[in-house]
Amino acid sequence: MPTRILAIETSCDETAAAVVDDGRFIRANVIASQADLHRRYGGVFPEMASRAHVEAIAPVIDAAMTEAQASWDSLSAVAVTKGPGLPGSLVVGVNAAKGICLARDLPLIGVNHLEGHIYAHWLEADGGSETASLVRQLLHSESPFPLLALIVSGGHTELVLMRGHGQYRLLGHTVDDAAGEAFDKVARLLNLGYPGGPAIQKAAEFGNPQRFKFSPPRVSLEAKTVRATSNEYMFSFSGAKTHVLRLTQDYGDANGNRADPVPVSDIAASFQEAVTDWLVEKTARAAEAFGVKAVLVGGGVSANKRLRAKMSARLGATVSFPPLALCTDNAAMIGAAGYYAFARGVRDDLTLDVEPDLKLG
Ligand code: KG4
Ligand code: ZN
Repeated sequence: MPTRILAIETSCDETAAAVVDDGRFIRANVIASQADLHRRYGGVFPEMASRAHVEAIAPVIDAAMTEAQASWDSLSAVAVTKGPGLPGSLVVGVNAAKGICLARDLPLIGVNHLEGHIYAHWLEADGGSETASLVRQLLHSESPFPLLALIVSGGHTELVLMRGHGQYRLLGHTVDDAAGEAFDKVARLLNLGYPGGPAIQKAAEFGNPQRFKFSPPRVSLEAKTVRATSNEYMFSFSGAKTHVLRLTQDYGDANGNRADPVPVSDIAASFQEAVTDWLVEKTARAAEAFGVKAVLVGGGVSANKRLRAKMSARLGATVSFPPLALCTDNAAMIGAAGYYAFARGVRDDLTLDVEPDLKLG
């Protein structure tokens, strides 16, 4: 009998449930996306997100159980994202998980969403980067550690060193906008729509990435928000966003109402080039400094083609990008992280509460 985890994820704007065996085999991975709902607002609208989670959660869990052909009796535990995320969204998943654990007498495991993004790499999947399955073999071997994880999403930019299961050391993070958030804000400045990452990537295809120079940000350790011990691996993206704002002002508004049309493609390409340079540079430097066996890149921004190409060119066979469906928010990754937490004895009880500002390491 496998160790079977029902996993639930509602930290942001996806209502997701999955059934995962032994932290590795996905039996079902169901996602109800609210992207269409939030597109109108150009970002996630927290009130609407939690209401949409309430409507979707039961059908999504049912769909996952049905797709997996899993009986309630076959479950070993329920894992749920407890944070970080939107409080009103997290609480919907956590309450659903508690209800199931109470009714079915199952162990409950609260999982850090960022841990989930890291453990997505342990899941069997087709369609990842060429090296993803090689790295996966390493991850399932006797001693895969140390590992380096880069999590780049709409809410996070974190560089994490892992010396064992559940052992995280935060090497660096952003002091202002998350990488994905910067893509979203710049896309808005360029009138490219939401979500911004794919839109910038598309606009950048025909742009000149060398036309505008973005100077690398310098992060002072004095900044109150710095949680890492050195500024060597810290990130900052708000300067690049401000630079884009200034460029659009120089050229008039992005609707092209003034004399000079904004060179949208060149700005998009230059911005993308700068951000991906910074991400690759710091990640590669940390990988060398800590002699890691592999680099695990996850989160929505890891869908970026330019980032993938540059990261692979720099790090070769050691870098893993799971398929897109596992890079963006999903519950299977919570099932994988939940399995390893379950295996090391992590248990929560019905007093489990959401932790919207939960940190890793
Ligand atoms: O992980 P995710 O689906 O949700 C969380 O934020 O947790 O990440 C979404 C973010 C958005 O900011 C989106 O613009 C960005 O990932 N993104 C991309 C690309 N695809 C999605 N950023 C750059 N290039 C992309 N191709
Ligand atoms: Zn995420």
